[in-house]
Amino acid sequence: MAEKKYELGELLISEEQIRTRVEELGKQISGDYRGKDLLVVGILRGSVPFMADLIRAIDNPLSIDFMSVSSYGASTKSSGVVRILKDMESNIEGKDVLIVEDIIDSGLTLSYLKEALLARKPASLKIATFLDKPARRKVELTPDYVGFPVEDVFIVGYGLDLDQKYRNLPYITHVVEVK
Ligand code: IMP
Ligand code: MG
Repeated sequence: MAEKKYELGELLISEEQIRTRVEELGKQISGDYRGKDLLVVGILRGSVPFMADLIRAIDNPLSIDFMSVSSYGASTKSSGVVRILKDMESNIEGKDVLIVEDIIDSGLTLSYLKEALLARKPASLKIATFLDKPARRKVELTPDYVGFPVEDVFIVGYGLDLDQKYRNLPYITHVVEVK
């Protein structure tokens, strides 16, 4: 079978829209965590651009850490069983933890991770996701902070990839298969 070819579709979310929205989220999070011991945990690799912008929009003292997780199985669809490829280094017991993710799709990855992290007894655990595809949810999972809700199309840019490419685009677009 020939390798599939893709090209970029129309622009969905511009750099300017991203900047404005991330500033808003930063203000909201700053207010919500005033006086707290905040630890922001980015889920590698897709969260990196959002994480970098978001933490600079939060004007409280905070710490950062990272985790890398992967679904089991060869299927490109999430299986719901998550493997921790790289754990964070911080002890989260008693801390106010904010998980930062690029996109929530089925919700399987984060609902598994949430349970695993709650067992470590943080003071609180919330989720900030840049994008949310609520129509695709397979388990109940409501993120606490959402950059933008999106339709069920395959999206790349601002950390999101197709076969590890396009993460560096500073805007959000979707990819279409070239026939
Ligand atoms: P889920 O919520 O467990 O289904 O998985 C979410 C993960 O799937 C995200 O962290 C992304 O890595 C990936 N993903 C889901 N939808 C997209 C998309 O439209 N573009 C790029 N990656 C996606
Ligand atoms: Mg991801």
